Amino acid sequence: MSIGLLSSGAGDRSGGVGTGRVMTTGVDVSHRGILYLESISVSFDGFKALNDLSLTIDAGELRCVIGPNGAGKTTMMDVITGKTRPDAGTAFFGQTIDLTRLSEPEIADRGIGRKFQKPTVFGQHTVFENLELARKADKRVWPTLTAKLDSAAHRRILTILDTIKLTGEAKRPAGLLSHGQKQWLEIGMLLMQEPQLLLLDEPVAGMTDDETLRSAELFQSLAGDYTLVVVEHDMDFVARIADRVTVLHEGRVIAEGSMQQVQQDEQVIEVFLGR
Ligand SMILES: Nc1ncnc2c1ncn2[C@@H]1O[C@H](COP(=O)(O)OP(=O)(O)OP(=O)(O)O)[C@@H](O)[C@H]1O
Ligand SMILES: [Mg+2]
Repeated sequence: MSIGLLSSGAGDRSGGVGTGRVMTTGVDVSHRGILYLESISVSFDGFKALNDLSLTIDAGELRCVIGPNGAGKTTMMDVITGKTRPDAGTAFFGQTIDLTRLSEPEIADRGIGRKFQKPTVFGQHTVFENLELARKADKRVWPTLTAKLDSAAHRRILTILDTIKLTGEAKRPAGLLSHGQKQWLEIGMLLMQEPQLLLLDEPVAGMTDDETLRSAELFQSLAGDYTLVVVEHDMDFVARIADRVTVLHEGRVIAEGSMQQVQQDEQVIEVFLGR
């Protein structure tokens, strides 16, 4: 895999669901960090998928995580979201929330949203209805389309439609959207849950060049208001969007810094170019 083409700048940070401040409700980010992984290890039948992994993410950051296949990137997200329990180490959301003690739904409820690669939108429902169904409602009742939408929720859907550039598609069945549009809709559905931290695993895989560019704009518009951790193999994309890049290899962090810094790192070059 090439790690070249590093010319793009950080880009414009305006727009988005834009509150002008980082979403951190209920999370203590008094020390700037919103996510702290410390010395995390995960073994599968003796194989260390994560091996003493430590990582800190600041609130409002757009962090990219790269690394070869099998480096442990998805496993790291599994630990953050409670899908996999670490054998050792600590994982904190802000200063006080111990993620290793919470269930997957509890972690989602505290404000960590995750997008898997395959979009899971409701194809028969319109784009608007998909967002409506995704809203954070009273947990005792599954939100239904017959329940009356209050004006704040309605406004939020319109704002998110604008953010994900699907205003013009609002009345179309989601099943008719392009692959890229479905991915954006799913991000919109995550935003309806009012997350603080968004974890996106290979979000531009399978997208056209144009869709990839639009995704870069979308993620940059979300950064600042939200904290984003993006795992991607597309290095041009990473170079375009990342504030900081973390490089994983064999379950641990081998380099961290700007894209320019990590691409000059000897070990990173070795891992990526197989020298
Ligand atoms: N549930 C599991 N059981 C056994 N081994 C697993 C399990 N999940 C992951 N692994 C192994 O752990 C290692 C790390 O996998 P992981 O999926 O986290 O890598 P990745 O960095 O996301 O790779 P890719 O870029 O291919 O998505 C791999 O060797 C994988 O085979
Ligand atoms: Mg993976």
